[in-house]
Amino acid sequence: MGNFFPEEIIDEIKDRNSVVDVISQYIQVKSSGRDTYKARCPFHNEKTPSFVINPQRQMYKCFGCGEAGDVIRFIMKIENLSFIDAIKLLAQRANIQLKELNTSEEYKKTMEQKMLFFEIHKKAAQFYYNNLTRGRNAALEYLLKRGLSQKVIKSFGIGYSNDSWKDLLNYLSKEGYQLKDLEKCGLIIQNAKQTDYYDRFRNRVMFPIFDITGNVIGFGGRVLDDSLPKYLNSSETPIFNKSSTIYGLNFARRHITDGKIILVEGYMDVIALHQEGFKNVIAALGTALTKQHAETLKKYCSEVIICFDGDDAGVKATIRSIEILKEANLNCKILLLPSKKDPDDFIKDKGKFAFQEQIDGAVSPIDYKIIQAKNKHNLELPEGKINFVKELAEILKQIKSPVEREVYVQKIEKEIGVSKQVIHLEIYGNKGTTPFDKNLKYSSNNKRDNKYIEAVPPAEQNGHVMAEKQLIKTMLVEPKMLELIAKGINPEDFSKGNHQLIVEYILRNQITNSELILKDLPHLNHDIEDILNIDIDHLDFSKTLEKYIVNIKRFKLMYQAKLLQNKQKELIESKKLNKEEVETELLKIGMEIMKINTEIQKLQL
Ligand code: CTP
Ligand code: MN
Repeated sequence: MGNFFPEEIIDEIKDRNSVVDVISQYIQVKSSGRDTYKARCPFHNEKTPSFVINPQRQMYKCFGCGEAGDVIRFIMKIENLSFIDAIKLLAQRANIQLKELNTSEEYKKTMEQKMLFFEIHKKAAQFYYNNLTRGRNAALEYLLKRGLSQKVIKSFGIGYSNDSWKDLLNYLSKEGYQLKDLEKCGLIIQNAKQTDYYDRFRNRVMFPIFDITGNVIGFGGRVLDDSLPKYLNSSETPIFNKSSTIYGLNFARRHITDGKIILVEGYMDVIALHQEGFKNVIAALGTALTKQHAETLKKYCSEVIICFDGDDAGVKATIRSIEILKEANLNCKILLLPSKKDPDDFIKDKGKFAFQEQIDGAVSPIDYKIIQAKNKHNLELPEGKINFVKELAEILKQIKSPVEREVYVQKIEKEIGVSKQVIHLEIYGNKGTTPFDKNLKYSSNNKRDNKYIEAVPPAEQNGHVMAEKQLIKTMLVEPKMLELIAKGINPEDFSKGNHQLIVEYILRNQITNSELILKDLPHLNHDIEDILNIDIDHLDFSKTLEKYIVNIKRFKLMYQAKLLQNKQKELIESKKLNKEEVETELLKIGMEIMKINTEIQKLQL
């Protein structure tokens, strides 16, 4: 499991043992302006101070002998302590309880092994870095051509594994490391005959992978051309676990402002964005985000801005990551790059201001899903619209707040010209669960709405449904009446959800051929058949039409009035408001009911 100490403990120990305070307990430290401190180095003999402490980074470095590190490293060196004991000492100093510390022999052994593996990786990283920077070579040319600066190459410790079978192996053996250990680190591999070893990484640009405290725990190696595999990564080792490692977090965690972190796909994306000043950037090493990643991120940020490649794989990974982040209770936004571009390409092409604009325009997960659904369907075609609305309904169902859901419904209604009744219908169910549908009485478990429906006189309950069917049948058999009907009534005046859908479809597409309608609305087959089977009065259309329309509209108005009356009842029973507030509300609702009654009367004239 990860580090031998929980990261939080190490972080807390470092937080509560300022490097300046601790060091000044051992040697005399002097401020040297601009927020740094100087001292004579305790680790080598010197007259003029070249030992510099940087409180901002909580690090020290001697420019005389090269010794450098954090407060833990300082204690290990100066007290000659093991890592564990240095931690213990510092914990004691800061009054931190280390109950969870396991100090069994076995535990110490694995710890020592890990320390050794860290050391080996550090040496390897230095070796690769020297290869890259010693002189001009193909790998350096490659990186410079891709726009990386020497500075960022250094900060990320990027290196180069020579085109040779035993370069690293020879170097590390000479440094005294055992082949078995190098093999366990995944840096060398045994041949099939088990007679020899060779380097795992050859002729690749090497990206060291760091843990949160900055130890090198693995490598990603990129080819210099188009050969495959593009990236070769370290195998899993006692210090490297891919699904819990977040590339770049050791850098990013110091640059998290407003709790925000940018999540990208690749090494190059992290480095390119960092170079342009977006330093709160991390990557999940070519896999989608895992639960473990999310749990780790939670310690450092509150919002993740996902910025994956614009291709299909990127979209899939984004959707998965959204779910993982949601489960971890982390906020999330999604940045939409033009397709076929990754953040590295984008920022190189368009520059940092354009990228900042993209960040500012990052969208919510729901918006993202809606955008993706829109891209998937051809909204010019009726069936495209229908399928889109179906998918949309599934997305909107995930929104808990009805108000928020409604905002989206209205937005979509405007954007694609599908009435909100139709969208509601998809969200709340096809069998007629709009507040307007009579079937609600049988199908819905929403008791309150049942009560409303039942409150309407039984005669009205049936009469209007028949009128609806008759009106629709008129549309189907007398297309020339369509215009007149459209003037008198809207789809949302119909009480049955499926009737709304059919009318909406007919009016919008001006299609009255029932077979064509069925093609696009196959699930309404039952209703359409039912409608075609009923009788209508052919004698005087304009008169019967009016009868149908009045009947339908009257039901709607009565229903609305009933809803308001029930609201009044609820108000009277409610204990949340005081008497005065209740009375004002009742009055307001009363006025609305009166208005509706006037409208009902007008209809009957
Ligand atoms: N990756 C990997 N193994 C591969 C391909 C990709 O581990 N064979 C991981 C790497 O961490 C890589 C990330 O997935 O950085 C994203 O892959 P990709 O988008 O293909 O590469 P880029 O990061 O864009 O690299 P480059 O710009 O150098 O092509
Ligand atoms: Mn790329």
